[in-house]
Amino acid sequence: MRAVVLVGGIGTRLRPLTYSVPKPMLPVGHVSIIERLITNLVGGGVTDVTLALGFKPEPFIEAFPDGTCAGAQLRYAVEPEPLDTAGAIRFAAEAVGIDDTFVVANGDVLTDLDISALVDFHRSHGAEATLHLIAVDDPSAFGVVAIDDDGRVRRFVEKPAAGTEPSNLINAGTYVLEASVLGRIPTGRKVSIERSTFPAIVAEGLAYAYATDDYWIDTGMPDLYLAANLDLVSGRRSGQSCVGVHPAASVHPTALVERSVVAAGTCVANDARVVDSVLLAGATIGAGSCLSRSVVMGRIGAGATVHDSVIGADGAVADGEHIAHQRRPDPARP
Ligand code: GTP
Repeated sequence: MRAVVLVGGIGTRLRPLTYSVPKPMLPVGHVSIIERLITNLVGGGVTDVTLALGFKPEPFIEAFPDGTCAGAQLRYAVEPEPLDTAGAIRFAAEAVGIDDTFVVANGDVLTDLDISALVDFHRSHGAEATLHLIAVDDPSAFGVVAIDDDGRVRRFVEKPAAGTEPSNLINAGTYVLEASVLGRIPTGRKVSIERSTFPAIVAEGLAYAYATDDYWIDTGMPDLYLAANLDLVSGRRSGQSCVGVHPAASVHPTALVERSVVAAGTCVANDARVVDSVLLAGATIGAGSCLSRSVVMGRIGAGATVHDSVIGADGAVADGEHIAHQRRPDPARP
């Protein structure tokens, strides 16, 4: 089975982290999101993965020098300009000659979904497109899907106004598509699968959906990226966990690290306190500083306190400074 994984987005909502690292290359529990995602695809029978690249393609190519990831053969399709989700799927699928049923995954979603079960469901229902669904408390920020008893999609509404959602089931970002879907996607311009292609397939009664209660998280926002990491050190993710402090991190013996993920290539000085946080390669945490619910790639000065903040590779908190709910550098910069 072949798959296309969408990894070409700019990752605006995860700035400033994505100024230096494209979102799917960010680590969750010391392993990149893309590697975790592909590992799950391979577990469900995928053998060949095409990365639909656009924004910052180089880190993906450099990360897998032998052209494989988690046992899957990797292929790369780099768009000359962003084509949005459907445009990217068509561009990538045609670049590698996909002409049969294939899997598509958003490159920022982590899930334990059994891909082979999704493919079986798709085939047994004779669907042209099958979406994986997850139930959430507040579906208004997502593509919301209403289905019949047999799983046929009745309505697909992208980001409906709060209170108007037709169900609490959302598009979880993994699909099985027939190659015929490619012919529905106009070429040479941006096309959204959520806003254009799926509604057209739904209108013809050829879209099905498969709801599960598997672990699922969209890592595309800072609080969710943090949560995806902390889920692996808190035991919330059944069957998957990671060490909090990587053996190649430098943590002073008097520093305290609690419920946090500390990457290789970080430095935590004496008497620092790091709680419910993620430190990424390059982070330096000053003596006596205190961090909570934050993600850091940059420099935290001695004696600083940092709460609920995101500090990118070029970001810094001065010695003795106290900040909360901030992002540095400012994500509003172009
Ligand atoms: P935001 O800017 O924060 O919305 O993030 P994003 O750019 O990643 O967009 P979004 O989360 O909506 O995208 C869902 C998935 O599609 C992600 O895995 C993106 O990498 C991918 N994606 C979005 N737009 C494009 C595109 O134009 N080309 C390609 N190849 N992938 C895309």
